[in-house]
Amino acid sequence: MKILFLGPPAAGKGTQAQLLHKQVKAPLIVMGDILREAISQKLEVGIQAEAYMKKGLLVPDEVVIKIVLNRLEEEDCKKYGFLLDGFPRTLEQAKALESVDFDKVLYYHINDEVAIARIAGRRTCEKCSAIYHLQNKLPKQAGICDLCQGKLIQRNDDSEHVMKTRLIAYHEKTKPLLDYYQEKGLIVKINAMSSVEEIFKETLFAVGLARK
Ligand code: AP5
Repeated sequence: MKILFLGPPAAGKGTQAQLLHKQVKAPLIVMGDILREAISQKLEVGIQAEAYMKKGLLVPDEVVIKIVLNRLEEEDCKKYGFLLDGFPRTLEQAKALESVDFDKVLYYHINDEVAIARIAGRRTCEKCSAIYHLQNKLPKQAGICDLCQGKLIQRNDDSEHVMKTRLIAYHEKTKPLLDYYQEKGLIVKINAMSSVEEIFKETLFAVGLARK
């Protein structure tokens, strides 16, 4: 199974990718998490990426393309395929995956107002990256991850100001990928403004794991 998760920031790509990952063997590869991990480990690539991420700008193509191509070479991807969340985000990145046979590209669409409202309430586990929300998905114990008991934090790029820059980057650089993958017949559009459960039904249907 080779699936791409595409859509604006806060569309719920990560939420849906984590849910699907529980049902399939394909590894979940999340570009934002890889970069945040590199930052916390003070790796060279993390130092390069941090300056861009803090401002809500895309990390340069050459940095992220190298990371993804290396990751896709690993045994688990060769054996089971992959769920790829947050890559590609530019035409250059998409072209780097030109030779990969994707099954589907899931495009989650929401409008900018909903995205901005959603992002303010997001909390993320600093240990396992599980995603919560102060109104929509509360942990059992405030501030603590249900899955690993890690601390829930607010990402430093989740401010309204940085979110606006992330949305601009999305509209300028990532949205054109919709046409790119539509021409290849791979896009499945999913309305991401309904409930997580409704959207997950659509997701399962889109990847052939459920019937309508
Ligand atoms: P990244 O971490 O990928 O952030 P993003 O794309 O902006 O996506 P988000 O993680 O914000 O949102 P999401 O769609 O996963 O939504 P979520 O499920 O969390 O990237 C961060 C940065 O890294 C970029 O800005 C860039 O600098 C860099 N980067 C990453 N990849 C790159 C690349 N390829 N090239 C260059 N730079 C790159 O949901 C959001 C919230 O809403 C949560 O609280 C969730 O609980 C809630 N929620 C989810 N679904 C629903 C629903 N249906 N109803 C109500 N609430 C919901």
